[in-house]
Amino acid sequence: MPKLPNYTTNGQTITFAYEQPLQISIVTPAILRVFSDHGEPGSSYAVTSDNRQKTDFTIVDQGDHYELQTAQLVLHLDAERYVDAYDAHGHVLVSDYRGKRTPLDRGTDKAHEDLAAAEGHTLAGDGEPTNQGYYEVVKALAPAEHFYGLGDKTGYLDKRGYAYKNWNNDHPAPQTEVLPNLYKSIPVLLGLKNGHPYGLFFDDPYESQFDLGKESDQYYYYSAVAGNPDYYIIGGDTLKNVVTNYTDLTGRTPLPQKWLLGYQQSRWGYSTSQDKVQAIVDGFKQHDLPLDAVHLDIDYMDGYRVFTWNTASYHNDPRRFVKELKQDGVKVVAIIDPGVKQDPAYQVYKEGIQHNYFAKNPDGDVYINEVWPGKSAFPDFGRQAVRQWWANKTAFLTDLGVAGIWNDMNEPASFKGAIPGNVAFSDGEQPSTHQKMHNVYAHNMAQATFMGIKAHTGKRPYVITRAAYAGTQKYATVWTGDNHSMWPHLQMMIPQLCNLGLSGFSFTGTDIGGFGSDTTPELLTRWIEAAIFSPLLRNHAALGTRSQEPWVFGEPTLSIYRKYLKLRYRFIPYLYDLFANEAKTGLPVMRPLVLNYENDPRVQDLNDEFMVGDDLLVAPIVQPSQTKRLVYLPAGTWIDFWNHTEYAGQQDIVVNAPLDKLPMFVKQNTLLPWGPAVNHVDEAPLASMTFKLFGDHGSYQHYQDNGTDFKYQDGEWNNYLITVNHGDVAIKVTHYGYEPVYQQITVELIDKVVTFTHTADGCYSKK
Ligand code: GLC
Repeated sequence: MPKLPNYTTNGQTITFAYEQPLQISIVTPAILRVFSDHGEPGSSYAVTSDNRQKTDFTIVDQGDHYELQTAQLVLHLDAERYVDAYDAHGHVLVSDYRGKRTPLDRGTDKAHEDLAAAEGHTLAGDGEPTNQGYYEVVKALAPAEHFYGLGDKTGYLDKRGYAYKNWNNDHPAPQTEVLPNLYKSIPVLLGLKNGHPYGLFFDDPYESQFDLGKESDQYYYYSAVAGNPDYYIIGGDTLKNVVTNYTDLTGRTPLPQKWLLGYQQSRWGYSTSQDKVQAIVDGFKQHDLPLDAVHLDIDYMDGYRVFTWNTASYHNDPRRFVKELKQDGVKVVAIIDPGVKQDPAYQVYKEGIQHNYFAKNPDGDVYINEVWPGKSAFPDFGRQAVRQWWANKTAFLTDLGVAGIWNDMNEPASFKGAIPGNVAFSDGEQPSTHQKMHNVYAHNMAQATFMGIKAHTGKRPYVITRAAYAGTQKYATVWTGDNHSMWPHLQMMIPQLCNLGLSGFSFTGTDIGGFGSDTTPELLTRWIEAAIFSPLLRNHAALGTRSQEPWVFGEPTLSIYRKYLKLRYRFIPYLYDLFANEAKTGLPVMRPLVLNYENDPRVQDLNDEFMVGDDLLVAPIVQPSQTKRLVYLPAGTWIDFWNHTEYAGQQDIVVNAPLDKLPMFVKQNTLLPWGPAVNHVDEAPLASMTFKLFGDHGSYQHYQDNGTDFKYQDGEWNNYLITVNHGDVAIKVTHYGYEPVYQQITVELIDKVVTFTHTADGCYSKK
């Protein structure tokens, strides 16, 4: 029987002297880091070290194991180096598997594999590692265990039974539920084991993979091709607390500018000329459709050279154009890819060469692959100096008045084969490789873009990124990349955005209507309905696909589209309040029911409903020709948003949903803010606000600030507490940092409307 090893304590870290030493760090009472030094240098890209306080813990020798205890977690380490984690009540959360892995027997042999390959089949299975794992972490699986998170993976909400890979992947072909990896690598797993929530975050940027009970129903595992075994066990009394703790570790989506919550229109092809873009914006005006931003895809540039503008197609004055659009309430967002065209006469390329900013071949030449501009070099974003250079470059766009930067192709994508693993990139100031830096490439690019926009504008930066790593939520909004105009992708939007939300990414969206392939009026209609609460609300399509602006199919598509855009603007104050809350708690705006009702088995793999905050349940139609559906309502009483019918929860109800109806239910006794009917977010009057009551009492905390810059961090914000009881309405402002406060507040109850005005003594009195 092996003996327990000795240990040494250094501050919050305990090192156990196993043959291969194991370090446990107490990050917070709910977060323990398990680390094994395999000699890989560098520090984390994901983890923030802000304000970590010393955490009390005890460690006791229990004879056959050590017991390490914090206020929220208990860890057992035995003589054989097995680690088991429990919550404070003794429920097992994460436990090392004691047996050996038994790889799936696929019953094939080489001859059969070759035969099947002749028709294009791979018998290796989806999601199986392409490289042999260098280390693996294998944990015991309980019969009642569910998995969530993992970022943007395809498939369903509960990831149990599937295998996935973490390697940022540009995959334009229709993405199916068995695709192992997409654009983002966010190796965080949220588990519910016998009803007890936990998180596991594996912080190794190298290619890695999860098998979540596909290979066996006895265990699940994570393995990586290189790096240090380095993971965090995250506790919390509820799944919500686990998300809060995980986002404490890796950072939260910062409060966005308010207009970012408005509708945005895009299409690859608009930006070839100013007149085309103008015609689109005019279309919105003519059809009385809300619009806050238009996105310029790669064609606005001069030959796809980043940080240039093809001014000839913009009447030689893009600045003026951007300004005029802005005066009309529409902001411009422009795309920037990482690939810098190899052109000795082009300033950005010249600077990169001169200062050694590009990734290199092992022999020391600049590494060249192809992307949109043809032959291109790739900035080595791991280095601070390169990020600073890129941040400075963003001034080209911000000086022209561009309001947001859309980072694409940053997996990084390459057209002439994959970038070899040994291409030299930097990890901080240390020389490193593409193999290590691939998954954090977009993260570093997004950080540079964020820093640049912040420095040049002083506003809350609007960065959208396609690829990401854990923690990128601190810098960028994400969209899910190149989906297709097909019903399965509308269906996939719900679990995909919900899992992104659980993985710390609260500001997310899909290409509404579908990017590739041709949409249909019915699909577009159901998509705008289902997506109307997705934080990023953008219709985007590929070059050459059937047009999908709201008006192109005529009626009834146009009217229905308009109805939902107008509805979205009514909900913007609610969404903004949810973001103000999210910035403090990490709890996503759009979320799966399981986050709010984790003990209800009916919602643990519910894929066609979601919630917006705690109080609004949305059950879209995501099937063609369907005009009626079952809606599962969890515990509580629910009020139909459209006709105020009340339903008891914990049952399925049948709901009619003709083409123009998005089924929505508000939890009884909920007070919601109700924005004004405007076509641009900035048009909303500053001096008044309305709230609507669903039920007969309720209370609500509403946040207000200037919606644009960082002054709120210096206290320039207000908090309103609205309470309705027995028909009596009370309003209290609990913090007074922002001017103007609302001069008028209206509360709509079922049977009456009560209006208050702000008085000289700082209170509100009934009109
Ligand atoms: C990629 C992006 C897509 C964009 C296109 C052209 O496919 O995912 O959104 O329109 O590149 O830039």
